[in-house]
Amino acid sequence: MSKTPIGILGATGVVGQRFIQMLEHHPWFEVAWLAASDRSEGKTYAEAVRWRLKTAIPAKIAGLKVSPATPQGAPKIIFAALDSAIAAEMEPRFAEAGCAVVSNSSALRMQSDVPLVIPEVNAAHIQLIETQAWRKQSGGYVVTNPNCSAIGLVLALAPIYRRFGLEAVMAVTMQAVSGAGYPGVASLDILGNVIPYIKNEEEKMQEETQKLLGKMNGSSVIPAEFAMSAQCNRVAVEDGHTESISIRLKSKAKPEEIIAAWNEFRSEPQEMKLPSAPEKPVVYLEAADRPQPRFDIEMGAGMTTAVGRLRPCGVLDWKFTVLSHNTIRGAAGAAVLNAELLKAQGYLA
Ligand SMILES: NC(=O)c1ccc[n+]([C@@H]2O[C@H](COP(=O)([O-])OP(=O)(O)OC[C@H]3O[C@@H](n4cnc5c(N)ncnc54)[C@H](OP(=O)(O)O)[C@@H]3O)[C@@H](O)[C@H]2O)c1
Repeated sequence: MSKTPIGILGATGVVGQRFIQMLEHHPWFEVAWLAASDRSEGKTYAEAVRWRLKTAIPAKIAGLKVSPATPQGAPKIIFAALDSAIAAEMEPRFAEAGCAVVSNSSALRMQSDVPLVIPEVNAAHIQLIETQAWRKQSGGYVVTNPNCSAIGLVLALAPIYRRFGLEAVMAVTMQAVSGAGYPGVASLDILGNVIPYIKNEEEKMQEETQKLLGKMNGSSVIPAEFAMSAQCNRVAVEDGHTESISIRLKSKAKPEEIIAAWNEFRSEPQEMKLPSAPEKPVVYLEAADRPQPRFDIEMGAGMTTAVGRLRPCGVLDWKFTVLSHNTIRGAAGAAVLNAELLKAQGYLA
């Protein structure tokens, strides 16, 4: 089977690099086009990028020229990893030109006709594509994946929400520096330090969680209803967002029932055997001091959310710890899995 050519917008950034790494041996998609800012345009990828990953730049990609970030000459499937201010202008331009834009950016996530999707949680929301004006006019559309902290949280909440319901969620994050892009936070600001502020992050976690767990009603999503509060901190960790979560359930559950809900959680991507779907989307770790970014971030090739430390909460019902890889499950891997779902559902024909 010949592979489908795809393009990457923002190919030189932290997330763009992960796309290139994850797509090197992808069975369905092949990187055929790269674009970034005009600082990079016209250079080879190897000249333009400050490659920060431990594997080498794939030989075929190193010599590819960075194209202008315009739809002319671009493939019809675009993975986008642009800053949100730029994405807000550029993603609609590509969708208008008939491209399927699979985006990481927050720019359009909360737009009512744009699906915000985690394939294990709300694959049905993909059908919002059909309500988009771009789709009707040119066949193009935009699909988004959530914020890198929301995704780990929602993968941990979804199995519990489905079995027991949720009344309240409190989340405190400890977010890795790679979440801020490259060069991101200055070393003098973060070394030996914790920064208790990430612009717009708490709002994104709250609203995206409720949209992701919401239900399709005709041609729109009704957000899930529970009280939700997030507090977000940047810490001196390279990769991996850790989150301390407290929840109040709608119906009572024993700890072993909650752990079973996590460990048994399987969904469409596992049933369809999508290439980037982890065998287990959520795994509960029994050790008292896990999960930890240093040891647990690569579970399921970075696509599995690790959960641990389930115990009673003195304020709500239960508390636990969540760990998720921010540039894989929280960004490039999330978008690749969304594209695989789109292909499996016939949207990339
Ligand atoms: N890092 C994470 O963990 C993470 C997780 C989830 C979502 N996201 C989201 O993903 C997006 C990308 O994040 P990142 O961390 O990869 O950022 P980044 O490292 O700062 O990379 C930004 C990319 O955008 C390109 N760019 C900048 N201005 C441009 C322009 N005017 N036209 C075209 N391209 C332009 C840059 O190209 P040059 O190299 O040429 O400047 C670079 O390729 C953001 O919206 C971010 O919020 C990031």
